[in-house]
Amino acid sequence: MTNRDEGSLDAATIERMLHAARDAATRAYVPYSGFPVGASVLTASGEIIAGVNIENASYGLTVCGERVAVLRAAAEGHRELRAVVVSAAKAPGTTPCGACRQVLNEFKGQGSDLQVILDNGEGAEPTIVAFDTLLPRAFGPHDLKVSGGD
Ligand code: THU
Repeated sequence: MTNRDEGSLDAATIERMLHAARDAATRAYVPYSGFPVGASVLTASGEIIAGVNIENASYGLTVCGERVAVLRAAAEGHRELRAVVVSAAKAPGTTPCGACRQVLNEFKGQGSDLQVILDNGEGAEPTIVAFDTLLPRAFGPHDLKVSGGD
């Protein structure tokens, strides 16, 4: 685990991603938990796409902010992500849940390291961890001999 040292992710991009996630969190739909989460992903082409958690009266159908961001990006045609921000003001440093880790794994790309940026709150440095430390030895496209892309 490290605080802000990752090569291709410059400080300005991290700030933009944090801002996008925090701004999105204001639109979270959380009538049951009251725990808003904003997320943003950085695509290989440099776009930042945000998501929020969206709860459901049938609790188990709730979708996390991270997954909404990833799926929005995928629906726009993006297949490789470089970074993801998780922002939960009520629990600074929140990490993606197991289900979201698996979905992120699908689009982590080959060779490059997906960075996971944990929002520690306004004025605090975010924590940056390499995705592979959160889901080591993951099952993914590689296991099905699929390179990803389509
Ligand atoms: N949640 C997320 O959106 N992302 C996380 O990383 C942790 C949990 C949501 C799911 C649910 O709406 C609320 O937070 C409480 O679990």
